[in-house]
Amino acid sequence: MKRLFYTLSLALALVSCSTAPKSADSAVDQRVEDLLSKMTLEEKIGQLNQLSSMNNLEDMAKQIREGRVGSILNEVEPGRINALQRIAKDESRLGIPILMSRDVIHGFKTIAPIPLGQAASFDLEAVEAAARIAAIEATNDGIRWTFSPMIDIARDARWGRIAEGYGEDTYLTSLMGAATIRGYQGPDLSDPTSMAACAKHFCGYGASEGGRDYNTANITPRQLLDVYLPPFQKAAEAGAATYMTSFNEIDGVPSTANSYLLKTMLRDAWHSDAMVVTDWASTSEMLAHGNTYDRADVAAKAINAGVDMEMVGETFIQNLPQLLKEGRVKLSTIDNAVRNVLRLKFRLGLFENPYVDENKRVAYAPEFIEKTLKLATESAILLKNADETLPLSSKVKTVALVGPMADAAYEQSGTWTFDGDASHTVTPLAALQAINGIKVLYEPALTHCRDQKAAGIASAVAKAKQADVVICVVGEEAIMSGEAHCLADINLYGKQKDLVEALSKTGKPLVTVIMAGRPLTIAKQVEESDALLYMFHPGTTGGTALVDLLFGKAVPSGKTPVTFPYMVGQVPIYYNHKNSGRPAAGTELLIDQTPVGAGQTSLGCSSYWLDAGFGPLFPFGYGLSYTTFEYSNLKLSKTELAKNETLHVTFDLANTGKYDATEICQLYIRDLVGSVTRPIKELKGFKRVALKAGEKTTVEFDLNMADLAFTTLDMKHEVEPGDFKLWVAANSDDNTNEASFTVK
Ligand code: GLC
Repeated sequence: MKRLFYTLSLALALVSCSTAPKSADSAVDQRVEDLLSKMTLEEKIGQLNQLSSMNNLEDMAKQIREGRVGSILNEVEPGRINALQRIAKDESRLGIPILMSRDVIHGFKTIAPIPLGQAASFDLEAVEAAARIAAIEATNDGIRWTFSPMIDIARDARWGRIAEGYGEDTYLTSLMGAATIRGYQGPDLSDPTSMAACAKHFCGYGASEGGRDYNTANITPRQLLDVYLPPFQKAAEAGAATYMTSFNEIDGVPSTANSYLLKTMLRDAWHSDAMVVTDWASTSEMLAHGNTYDRADVAAKAINAGVDMEMVGETFIQNLPQLLKEGRVKLSTIDNAVRNVLRLKFRLGLFENPYVDENKRVAYAPEFIEKTLKLATESAILLKNADETLPLSSKVKTVALVGPMADAAYEQSGTWTFDGDASHTVTPLAALQAINGIKVLYEPALTHCRDQKAAGIASAVAKAKQADVVICVVGEEAIMSGEAHCLADINLYGKQKDLVEALSKTGKPLVTVIMAGRPLTIAKQVEESDALLYMFHPGTTGGTALVDLLFGKAVPSGKTPVTFPYMVGQVPIYYNHKNSGRPAAGTELLIDQTPVGAGQTSLGCSSYWLDAGFGPLFPFGYGLSYTTFEYSNLKLSKTELAKNETLHVTFDLANTGKYDATEICQLYIRDLVGSVTRPIKELKGFKRVALKAGEKTTVEFDLNMADLAFTTLDMKHEVEPGDFKLWVAANSDDNTNEASFTVK
């Protein structure tokens, strides 16, 4: 194992980003050193201790006075936060302010779509704006550190936390994570509306085996370097102020004790001076992992690996003094951890201004609602639209709105929504009822998504028969995705399948809307519906976004940030897979086409499932519009390039339909031969292009040959000469516009 890590270190040294060490801020560093020199050992260790808020303020106050608290999470009441800061400032020996933190994952009060939904927008500016809104609202309550963005690559829809990240693609996740960090932190961390970001979960958490949370992550060294780590490097380049260690182990090493991640990568390769916090008790959970003997061993392994602050585990505060005496932890190690904590507090301006204005309230400002609505609208994905069912015509006067998610304000905000007030949420029912001239026949039919009682379906069918169109809103309750909420089957749950089927038999136009935290296996519902819109839990403005889309006030532009499996047995399934030695031809006999008594080798030997074929239900990057787009005239500036050159790609895009709309154009490449096998496709660019009906434009991409680098057979991060294919495409399965080039 040691040899492997050394090898990887070499690879990583080549990956190191060019940014100078962040702690070039010598004024702050001087203040850190001055303060550090005055601190007792107990006060130093106290800064490494993060408490979760307690009801009894005095319990926290006592520990703060004693200098035993560096940070508190989950305290969100401005008055209490000010009280605790006042105690820290006036009643502790050195007056070091507390770093107040919270999981502000996709909004604080105004709730944006869950990150998976945000990714579907492919709109980096809108995502950054949403993070800025979250920071303004959260800092207005006194929160200056969020445990977000979650930039775990997820290829397994069974994993509940697929909801919290930006999907299966490294390139998209890297850019989305960096945009979110910029939004949270703003240009100046000391601005009172700046909120320290946290790149999490470092690293490989999304590869939890079986899609079962906290499980072992089996990741090869090359996958780690080329798939799971790059978003965290991009986060370092974006100036992420903190990182969080992940619960999982990688190849036997829990991330909370993984110096390869926390030192070789974060410090040596990326030159980050971010503060590293553990996940919730991920220190003491190493006892369950089985790589530590006792709590003292836990504390020693974690801090020696590079952890700075311990979230609620309390192994640091209980064991570091003795570990220092025994020589198992050096004082310099503790001092460096404290430096990382103090530096962040100085950068945030907490020493000058630890308090929050309790009278100033900014939540749900009209501008916030407007920007969040834009993102929610762009996050919706049109997966089917037979016979132009959508947008609904002006002839529609009576709408049957049915389903357990049609008026579920709390559920529609999805996982990790702690502080948003459901009373501000606009549901599909509320939005529909606000439209003059539309009669709404509302019937939830089921009390909630998991409802096993079908009695209400008859009433829904009866209302459907009286309507011009049926809108059926189903999906997942908020609790059905997110942390520890994994599913072994990802069909539409409970009697929802029966509801959609019954409605499809009414003969009325059926528009199915799915609000969920993951891609579900919805092949049957797609078949039964005339149109289908997918909204990864859309948040506060979800109902307004939906109705704007249904009636054509907005046109869908979202594209899938994850592959939609046809069956759960296909998982993990993702677009940028390897080809294998026997790739499926797509013409293989499926189970029901296979003759009885078929000879043993009669079916051919290629990589597919007898009962599911090879491909997914919907590929990565897929989404329809109300209009149509045509890609043509693909041109490359050169067909032979040196490794340090840039390829200029142009193509024409025409809006050949009836609606003004936006297309998310995608640029993919394939490295045909490498010193190791290469994915059949890799996203290397995307652009949102708005075109009026009938309009045509030329779209440009610049592809740096340096961006084709990968981890070679020799574990070096390099661009290898050779032949490449390139596509400009509407989705990852679209091979219509192809070109070739060679790297010399
Ligand atoms: C949780 C999550 C982590 C979160 C932390 C604090 O267990 O894994 O993402 O930020 O604890 O709530």
